Amino acid sequence: MVALSTDRSPAAARSSTDLAEDIRRLKRERNAVILAHNYQVGEIQDLADYVGDSLGLSYHAQKTDADVIVFCGVHFMAETAKIVNPTKTVLLPDLEAGCSLSESCPPDKLAAFLERNREKDYYVIAYINCSAGVKALSDVIVTSGNAIRIVESAPPARNILFVPDQNLGGWVMEKTGRKMDLWQGNCYVHVEFTRQSIERIRDQYPDAPVVAHPECTFAVRLLADEVCSTEKMISYCRDSEATAFIIVTESGMLHRLRREVPNKLFIPGPTDHCACADCRFMKMNTLEKLHDALLNMSPEITMPEEIRARAEKPILRMLELSR
Ligand code: 13P
Ligand code: SF4
Repeated sequence: MVALSTDRSPAAARSSTDLAEDIRRLKRERNAVILAHNYQVGEIQDLADYVGDSLGLSYHAQKTDADVIVFCGVHFMAETAKIVNPTKTVLLPDLEAGCSLSESCPPDKLAAFLERNREKDYYVIAYINCSAGVKALSDVIVTSGNAIRIVESAPPARNILFVPDQNLGGWVMEKTGRKMDLWQGNCYVHVEFTRQSIERIRDQYPDAPVVAHPECTFAVRLLADEVCSTEKMISYCRDSEATAFIIVTESGMLHRLRREVPNKLFIPGPTDHCACADCRFMKMNTLEKLHDALLNMSPEITMPEEIRARAEKPILRMLELSR
């Protein structure tokens, strides 16, 4: 058992600087690593050992030799970390941090659908934004960063069912020409961007390329100069000759872009109601909750071994196919 230093008080009413210092100390004492998604608040991104998209986070979770993974993202991401590295303690600062895509496809509904359509003998491709129960029913997992490549390598003679994001699935069909049946889920954040809201901001910045996440609707993707994963947004903006970009995804991405590409201007894509779009689930994690998770070693991600083992296979297939 690791001996902890004396301060065991919860994080409430502490300044951000003090909290950040305490988090660094607790992290050392616990031999923990902090993994954060690109949509986390800036102060969490600045403290993290690694910040990235779902694919990069999965690789880092798999290869870490820390004892504890504190996952600053949403539930399915922390669950994926536990699936690929089950001997580690995986903490999620707020267990309520879910995902509308994951919720749209409960495992029992998917199982019933597959049973009703047995004659189709579906090859099930699941976007990583789903629960362990859905992963356990799938043949292979994809992220926005590798979906095209993995769909291209799917068995040519099989019917494909793509779950749970109809927009990302639609984008992959456009890019690969492969027909797939699409589960009718969507990301409640990305469908808030509309053709009108993006046209308005583009009229204000006519020289700025529009960079959109594939979870956006077809109408928004049509306006985009580049459609890609959050991680690819960094290299696209860095390598482009343009000096200003309209970023059509969750607002946390702006912090990462401004940090990595400091000499360029990043304009948040607006919705019809707001100047930018926040994911309420991603924003449930705070510096205070991160501190308390490390202090109390809770909330922890756990799952039945039988589900974990079945969910691991399609994730490992994905990691293998994306190397
Ligand atoms: P990325 O893997 O592109 O970061 O996307 C994750 C996500 O949840 C987008 O809403
Ligand atoms: Fe899920 Fe959308 Fe939030 Fe990403 S932005 S975690 S897809 S609800």
